[in-house]
Amino acid sequence: MSKRILSLVIALVATMSLSTAQIHNAKNILPKPTKIEMGNSNSKFILSPTTKVVCKLEDKSMKYALNELNKLGVELFGKAFKKGTKIEGANNIIIRKENSIKEEGYHLEITPENIIIKAKSAAGVFYAIQTIKQIVPVQAYETPIDLKSLALPLLTINDAPHFGYRGFMLDCSRHFWDVETIKEMIDILALHKMNRFHWHLTEDQGWRIEIKKYPLLTKLGSLREQTTTGHNEGLDGIPYGGYYTQKDIKEVVKYAQEHFVTIVPEIEIPGHSLGALSAYPWLGCEGEKGNYKTWAYWGVSKQIACAGKESTFEFWENVLEEVMDLFPGEYIHIGGDEAPRDMWKECPDCQKRIKENNLKNEAELQSYVNNRIEKFLNANGRKLIGWDEILEGGVSQGATIMSWRGTEGGIAAAKKGNTVIMTPGSYCYLDYRQTTDRKDELDSNGSYVPLRKSYSFNPYDQLAPEERKYIMGVQGNLWTEYVTTPMQLQYKALPRLGAIAEIGWSNPSPETKDAEEFIGRAK
Ligand code: ACM
Ligand code: ZN
Repeated sequence: MSKRILSLVIALVATMSLSTAQIHNAKNILPKPTKIEMGNSNSKFILSPTTKVVCKLEDKSMKYALNELNKLGVELFGKAFKKGTKIEGANNIIIRKENSIKEEGYHLEITPENIIIKAKSAAGVFYAIQTIKQIVPVQAYETPIDLKSLALPLLTINDAPHFGYRGFMLDCSRHFWDVETIKEMIDILALHKMNRFHWHLTEDQGWRIEIKKYPLLTKLGSLREQTTTGHNEGLDGIPYGGYYTQKDIKEVVKYAQEHFVTIVPEIEIPGHSLGALSAYPWLGCEGEKGNYKTWAYWGVSKQIACAGKESTFEFWENVLEEVMDLFPGEYIHIGGDEAPRDMWKECPDCQKRIKENNLKNEAELQSYVNNRIEKFLNANGRKLIGWDEILEGGVSQGATIMSWRGTEGGIAAAKKGNTVIMTPGSYCYLDYRQTTDRKDELDSNGSYVPLRKSYSFNPYDQLAPEERKYIMGVQGNLWTEYVTTPMQLQYKALPRLGAIAEIGWSNPSPETKDAEEFIGRAK
């Protein structure tokens, strides 16, 4: 048989088996939709390249949503769907605005004649399309040649997210991830209806974002001479580095926007800063005498930025100004975690500031830093997020707390009326081991978080009903000390990210959760 005829036969068989067997994935949508009703199983909608997308609303974000449909058309059939603004006969994907639907929610109806999507905004349309992408059987994506048509089951779905913040954090400092890898992760987030990418950009082990005003941050601060092996056992002797130019950042921001993902950039203040200190030693309490070096080890360095010198604040504000120019999102993350305050105790500048401002101790000095930075961000129309350590010396009402050392910080913050993102290590740290029995399981910081554990997380645990409104959402964090390749990154992230997505979108409530059912769907 010639290659061409063989291809035709494969195409025919693929089309026939997919349409006649009614294979579909409607039962396996993840995160689980709020409500799904299957229609008459003897009938179906035939999706094909002649299917017309009818949409009157073509603002910028709706174009992004429609582009997702185009990509699906190309992926399945080798070409985009037709486009129009008028319904003529059947075989349409009709997109309508419906203001009564919740933000990011959607109504999806597949009838024998048409696919109807209703949503308040383009985000809802985008998520309806993600659902369609999941209803399409896996085999259709695996078919080596273009399909002619595809039968979709009749159904009605009404769906909307529980939480407005459904996040994923990636550490790009311990190991650097190129733009393509970041885009792949954004694709994975979008498919899971997640909407925040927390981009961890600065660390002891490397500064990864180009700041025009401080070129040495990337020229020197992005490089480390070598990297530790094992758990700080040896050194590999291999120089390591990498950073994002502002052009790269703009490209990723645009890609994220096209996928309805808002980026939350993180600039660590005042700890995890050796990358910056190695480039500009005047940022440290000891200045040139500090002999700061981008760190080759994992863990928490005692060398943090000096909160006494005014020049440090000038630096932070100048950096954040460029960061705000690059990232349009409302929230800026200022880290705040794991900042040992030992150096501040010895530093005359830090002590002078404590005295002059009637601060009780170094914890209050960190609060002073946070409050000043928060005022600066607020004056620029932005809001501050910090790790739960920022609670320690007192925190302003406007700050959002990211609870990582368990849920205690988040609970305390919610009781005070601060907004919270829950990301406790024992449920949400995606770098932790997910198996104990695999010999090839990747190394980690030591803990074990299997899929079922992640899935069991209840972000409302120990909160009174009136306190629950302060929980903005949930996030999975992937630290990358022990992750060195994109394949490993995806191995660590999945399927636990699916559990985080499900908690964020579908169901934070333990009473109605079913782990076996979830695992079946996740497969
Ligand atoms: C953290 O894991 N240090 C936030
Ligand atoms: Zn100091």
